[in-house]
Amino acid sequence: MTRDDAAFDWEPLRARAREAMSHAYAPYSGYPVGVAALVDDGRTVTGCNVENASYGLGLCAECGLVSELQRTGGGRLTHFTCVDRTGALLVPCGRCRQLLYEFGGPDLLLDTPAGVLTLAEMLPQAFGPDHLTQ
Ligand code: THU
Repeated sequence: MTRDDAAFDWEPLRARAREAMSHAYAPYSGYPVGVAALVDDGRTVTGCNVENASYGLGLCAECGLVSELQRTGGGRLTHFTCVDRTGALLVPCGRCRQLLYEFGGPDLLLDTPAGVLTLAEMLPQAFGPDHLTQ
């Protein structure tokens, strides 16, 4: 677990998340969300929530982000931020922490309202790809 990234400037990533949030399709909840993450090769990937008239089928913003990650070449997520409609920091929902774990692992840094936390702190004892090889 590491959090020694005090020099990291989160503001450009937050700006990308805010921009992504402006494209959200959230007519049912009225709760647009935007996310952005840095990839270990320097790319930035983003996402917004996309809801559905069949409510349960709505996609969280993180779904779009991991889809873009894979579509544009894969890699490991290193830094992640999530914002609400006002641009305020938001924690990813539980299901989305699991989605992020697949592509960022325990050391992924999250920009949360409680400060920068690792994904291991946000999703303790996570189930992941390693369990399937044991
Ligand atoms: N939402 C996300 O997109 N990501 C999260 O991590 C939290 C929740 C969306 C889902 C739904 O479209 C709206 O926020 C209200 O729950």
